[in-house]
Amino acid sequence: MDFGGQYAHLIADRVRRLGVYSEIISSDSSLQDLSRYKGIIISGGPASVNDPSSPQLDSRIYELKIPILGICYGHQYTMKSLGGRVAKGKIGEYGLTEFTVTKNIGIFKKLEKKSYKVYASHFDTVESVSEGFEITGETKDDKMSATANERRKIYTVQFHPEVTHTECGQQILDAFIDITGATRDWSIDKFIEREIASINEKVGNKKVFMLVSGGVDSTVAYALLAKALGEDRIYAMYVDTGFMRKDETAHIKVSLASIGIKSLHTEMAGDDFFTALKGIYDPEQKRKIIGDKFLEIQRAVAKKLNLNPSEWLLGQGTIYPDTIESGGTRNADKIKTHHNRVPEIEEMIRQGKIIEPIKELYKDEVRMVGKRLGLPEEMVNRHPFPGPGLAVRCLCAEGADELTEEEKKKITYHGPMGGRYIGQTLPIKSVGVQGDERTYRHPTVLIAAKPQKHSWEELRLIAPTITNINPRLNRVLLKIAFQGDKEEINSVSVTPAYLTPDRIKTLQAADSLVMSAIKDEKEVWQCPTVLIPLSVNVEGEESIVLRPVSSQEAMTANFTELSWDKVRKLAKDIMKIPGISAVFYDITNKPPATIEWE
Ligand code: XMP
Repeated sequence: MDFGGQYAHLIADRVRRLGVYSEIISSDSSLQDLSRYKGIIISGGPASVNDPSSPQLDSRIYELKIPILGICYGHQYTMKSLGGRVAKGKIGEYGLTEFTVTKNIGIFKKLEKKSYKVYASHFDTVESVSEGFEITGETKDDKMSATANERRKIYTVQFHPEVTHTECGQQILDAFIDITGATRDWSIDKFIEREIASINEKVGNKKVFMLVSGGVDSTVAYALLAKALGEDRIYAMYVDTGFMRKDETAHIKVSLASIGIKSLHTEMAGDDFFTALKGIYDPEQKRKIIGDKFLEIQRAVAKKLNLNPSEWLLGQGTIYPDTIESGGTRNADKIKTHHNRVPEIEEMIRQGKIIEPIKELYKDEVRMVGKRLGLPEEMVNRHPFPGPGLAVRCLCAEGADELTEEEKKKITYHGPMGGRYIGQTLPIKSVGVQGDERTYRHPTVLIAAKPQKHSWEELRLIAPTITNINPRLNRVLLKIAFQGDKEEINSVSVTPAYLTPDRIKTLQAADSLVMSAIKDEKEVWQCPTVLIPLSVNVEGEESIVLRPVSSQEAMTANFTELSWDKVRKLAKDIMKIPGISAVFYDITNKPPATIEWE
């Protein structure tokens, strides 16, 4: 059960990995709906249970005699609803903390050690437990951090068992599944079987107009639809938006033909997209225009082909993070509008005109489905590439953002291993996600204060500290190269720029160097290369940011630590591209930054 934030999806994912089918349901589900389930997990969320406007449940849920596990907000909500007390703690717990099991019962039955490192993120704490409940575990700052009512099969924990950093997380969820008696028969094969039946039911005797991009998601969605309906009932269209990688369209056409998409309609729409985006600077506006344009082109093509709209559904390769980040679940903040979640598409979804066969899956599950359907490894393992393409990796600006006097001050950061860096706030902004909310803030750039060798070990510690202590920042960059091998910033300016073919060409050139440099890097899950209209030490030029990240499902990510030799060589090559004044390395995790800059 979803209380917003980023947690419910992770719980659902972990439960599926334990072989049990799981769904995310909204907190206002009816009792009748809830009684269909073998077990209910009440998730975490950003709200405080003592806030009158916080999300509520039908309290009769606790009388359903269905095993319940309350996590974080769910722990506090359960305690409060059943007569316990929740108050603001003296100290919040954010991050890893030591949890001690005081009673090995219920969900702790599989735990063999006395204490474990667990991931917690809360300020409120339970101060008295509800009647009939016993305390089963504690941390240094939270003496009532886990509770159980064995008779009613209700269990609660303050920390997050679904987060991989929680050492005993899987065992706890595993034990809860045992308690529910749920059958462990969920598998990728089962998913495929169930989805094929549901596609047939939904599509009936209609046909599907499918937008494919050559990326993992739309290819797997196409393959599933084709298996369910047969290829003759799907019309596949590929739109070249002008924001593809260098030589991408030719490559994609070959690979889509290799999986049997014989009659792929290709629409070269670059001019159309560039015209629609002329003079646009705001990231969300860009995203909306791009999403609408896809739809407009699809409609125009359908009309040209004389397709009767009442006989066709629109197919999309939307996956779960697209929905949650677009604010598509109750209580979740909108981080960014994904191209397949613009308002007009949302309206079509309400009218039943859209089919999205993998919309409940995470990227790694999509890949498993693709492999099972026999798609080539090369296709299934491609790095994720966003629908709006390089458009969201090419920052636009009308001019420099005004910085306050405070923001203009340079700050010296001392690393624990003796490194010293000067931090300087840059007059541009990018999107981040902090406390489950969207932010649009400045990055700071770190420049070595003295000749020194960078150490990832040190930067890994410095970077999160900077964004934690300075709420005006959501990203940290490391200077890699300036023109003329300069070591310091003498001047910074913003070159006014929107999306133009020339800028995209510059970005394609840098991106292509980056992609060939990292092609064998197993740690890199995705690697945006970003063009920013920031000119360092010269006037009228731009800069490039390297953003390699490691992730599992894109909801959280860590920046990848490439070898310094590789980074230096790459930066040297990028600096040869005309008009590039600097190369930076993005050393921010998600959160506080997002993977893409916009
Ligand atoms: P962020 O930047 O939010 O990205 O950390 C998470 C993942 O989503 C991808 N992304 C998109 N994918 N349409 C897509 O199909 C979009 O509009 C879109 N925006 C971001 C991003 O590349 C990353 O893998």
